[in-house]
Amino acid sequence: MDLNRTILVTGGSGFIGSHLVCSLVNRHPEWRIINLDNLDYCCSSRSLQSIEDRNNYTFIRGDVCNSRLVNHIFKTENIDVIFHLAAKTHVEASFESPSSFQRVNVDGTRVLLAAAHQARHQPQRFIYVSTDEVYGGSLEEVFDESSPIRPTNPYSATKAAAEYLVRSYWDQYQFPIIITRSNNIYGPRQFTEKVIPRFLTLLQMNKKCTIQGTLPVSRHFLFVTDAVKAFLLVMEKGTVGEIYNMGTSCEIPIIQLAQELVKMVKNVPDSEVNDWLEFVPDRPRVDLCYPIKSKKLHQLGWRAEVSWAEGIRHTVQWYHDNPDFWLEKEDPQQIRSKPEKCNQ
Ligand SMILES: NC(=O)c1ccc[n+]([C@@H]2O[C@H](COP(=O)([O-])OP(=O)(O)OC[C@H]3O[C@@H](n4cnc5c(N)ncnc54)[C@H](O)[C@@H]3O)[C@@H](O)[C@H]2O)c1
Repeated sequence: MDLNRTILVTGGSGFIGSHLVCSLVNRHPEWRIINLDNLDYCCSSRSLQSIEDRNNYTFIRGDVCNSRLVNHIFKTENIDVIFHLAAKTHVEASFESPSSFQRVNVDGTRVLLAAAHQARHQPQRFIYVSTDEVYGGSLEEVFDESSPIRPTNPYSATKAAAEYLVRSYWDQYQFPIIITRSNNIYGPRQFTEKVIPRFLTLLQMNKKCTIQGTLPVSRHFLFVTDAVKAFLLVMEKGTVGEIYNMGTSCEIPIIQLAQELVKMVKNVPDSEVNDWLEFVPDRPRVDLCYPIKSKKLHQLGWRAEVSWAEGIRHTVQWYHDNPDFWLEKEDPQQIRSKPEKCNQ
């Protein structure tokens, strides 16, 4: 690959995207990093404040479904690598408005693929950031990249549909795609609709952590800097046409997660921890767990390095130090009444 690369990150203002963009901009002053994002409700302008004036960073506010805009970007820029993260990501919301998920997650991917494939300057990598949720849940099976995918909600169904589009470009044209499927990613700057920041925000407001249902739901949690390292490694060493699971052994039951956060934030004795939990009705079907094997990524040399103890301490500290970060976005009244979702 060229030494002087131009990298397009879609969804670069979101949680994972902003960490990826910051890392690329800081590590590679000789590269050009372009962020295409429509600044949906889940982003804050503050996430990229530290790099927005850098010479090697360009922000384009726009919709990934806008084919004129996306074609124009590929006509005027020599894009070498695409990290496609732009998506609607909130599982609960996907039940309420599946069509908007289909539009952004599927049509947006189709528009981006077509523009990238037709570009005069041929990209060398198209990295599609997918999710473990495409496997559907399991308690027994540990999924590897060849396991069948069985998405169970509109969010994961649209991510899976987009994966098929991405793979068709490899099958049809040998277009150099790579797909990643990662566990739950957490860390500073994640929007308050996702499980860890929501619990933290509720506790900061002296509210209880609301837990959906009584099923033994658990999630595997990967710290965001480890995820970014994996994306960068896949760009450098990943084999085109391949799928890479990006997983961690850190499996935490959602109830235990809430209890740990209560202890850390409220500093109460063990006997009072459960007083800060509230159980609310669940939706009819929830995936219990997404165990995945990441052998292919390990063979490239990646391991999650940040322990759960370290990652969650850092995250709790960040939300403690930045209580106003999401205030402009989230109506506190709504946080109080909305039940917690556990899927992401
Ligand atoms: N967070 C996780 O645990 C996790 C795990 C696995 C995979 N993923 C995937 O990683 C990607 C990023 O996730 P995230 O957690 O950072 O989500 P996020 O919701 O924080 O960010 C999504 C970004 O996409 C942008 N976006 C939405 N619609 C757009 C559109 N039409 N045009 C341009 N930009 C648009 C948003 O403005 C936002 O910046 C997603 O594709 C998600 O499916 C996330």
